[in-house]
Amino acid sequence: MSEVTASCRFGRVLVVTKRGDITRERADALVNAANSRLAGGGGVDGAIHRAGGPEILAACRRIGGCPTGGAVATPAGRLPARYVIHAVGPVWRGGGHGEARLLAAAYRESLARARELGVRTLAFPAISTGAYGYPLAAAARVALEAVRGEVLARPGRLEEIRFVLFSEPAARAFAAALGAFRSGS
Ligand code: APR
Repeated sequence: MSEVTASCRFGRVLVVTKRGDITRERADALVNAANSRLAGGGGVDGAIHRAGGPEILAACRRIGGCPTGGAVATPAGRLPARYVIHAVGPVWRGGGHGEARLLAAAYRESLARARELGVRTLAFPAISTGAYGYPLAAAARVALEAVRGEVLARPGRLEEIRFVLFSEPAARAFAAALGAFRSGS
């Protein structure tokens, strides 16, 4: 039986991977997998804007944009959260175009915004693994390594980070990557 839910501590921060819809997640901040124009779109971006309402897009328009590897925060509208952190992951172009560095930066920048806002509970989707085509297993390893490095160095007020994975393959990939940390590899 393969496990699709996993948990581990990175220092004093509890890290959980689970299957679910991030728009239903109760947390101080939800991370969105956005595009650099902050223009909304499909996938998790579309779901967040639909569930959160027009306040989020209005705030995105005021900000104007965000480079790949960056993250910006807005209010969360009607979502069960205080903030949405819009992170821009890279488009997968075969792996030789700085994709891992940019994906890690998108996670680290999201954590920097969370720290600035005093966030205690934070939910991430699997950034770049849908429309942007990043292979799941590689994306999961990059995500967890980046988050681990950042929260061990600068935990801020964070208590819990949840990776909320929409598909079973994504949930399995993130559980396996977290399991690798747990077993010390
Ligand atoms: N909750 C959690 N995860 C979700 C949800 C949801 N409600 N909906 C989709 N996902 C998952 C997808 O299954 C995928 O694993 O989020 C992951 C990221 O996929 P995308 O949303 O396509 O994001 P990304 O690959 O980063 O592409 C970003 O897509 O919609 C556009 O505006 C967005 O242009 C940007 C691009």
